[in-house]
Amino acid sequence: NQNSDAVDVITLNDNSVGKNITSIPSIDKNPKEAETLPADGSDVVVEAPVETLKEVPIKKEVVNDCPTPSKEYQDESLLDVGQDVGLEDKHYIPSDLVKLDKDISKYPTLCIKKEVAEALKNMLEAASKEGYTIIVSSAFRDYETQKFIVDREKKNGNKNVSVAVAKPGYSEHQLGVAIDVTSKSIAYASAAGKFAESPEAKWLELHASEYGFMESYPKGMQDITGYMYEPWHYRYVGIDTAKEIVKNSQTINQYLKARKESETDKNEVGG
Ligand code: DAL
Ligand code: ZN
Repeated sequence: NQNSDAVDVITLNDNSVGKNITSIPSIDKNPKEAETLPADGSDVVVEAPVETLKEVPIKKEVVNDCPTPSKEYQDESLLDVGQDVGLEDKHYIPSDLVKLDKDISKYPTLCIKKEVAEALKNMLEAASKEGYTIIVSSAFRDYETQKFIVDREKKNGNKNVSVAVAKPGYSEHQLGVAIDVTSKSIAYASAAGKFAESPEAKWLELHASEYGFMESYPKGMQDITGYMYEPWHYRYVGIDTAKEIVKNSQTINQYLKARKESETDKNEVGG
């Protein structure tokens, strides 16, 4: 059971929203500033043995606004990223990142594509009306942030790093369409295995696809997805595509891959 093995690696006082969640001792020039650093992406999966879970200082600059690309990119929202499929330009940044509302963010600056932000708002409002409080602990992560996480997990001795964290340039988070969520009933712990058993997770399992979101790494699907079960990680694919995926009982990646292949075939036949 992968679930019971899950360790909430973020042993860093992350039990209330708005508090200084990730403790970032020492490395920053200005300790005051360091205390308020956004920990976007710092709170990713941690399936490492407990004894290896040490605090590693975060070396990220404070960013107040969402990043914008310095060149024009083709939108990659539906790229079938996975263990063997990465972005062509590893430093890709989506063009329309917006900041998430603070009432649904665990950290001050979480960014996501505009369309996803709107769908997310609808979904979390619906959940809230039914009594489920769900917030976001990680959203868009740029190449450097993803690299930071991989390096940190390696340093921490996380033996599962390759099946828990995507390599930089290979993450759904870099596409600006993926979110990690957490909830009130688990005291807003990040990337926590116990989220799976929470009522909020059950609500999402039933309703996320109605808003265009799907679990990317479902339970028991590691052979297919390439990653361990992540009950907290959802990807936005749009309502119609989500319906198709549910109908076909596929994973997101299987569906996107098959669709890409059929498009390539069509193009080849058509000359
Ligand atoms: N944890 C997922 C696989 C990521 O790093 O994108
Ligand atoms: Zn994630």
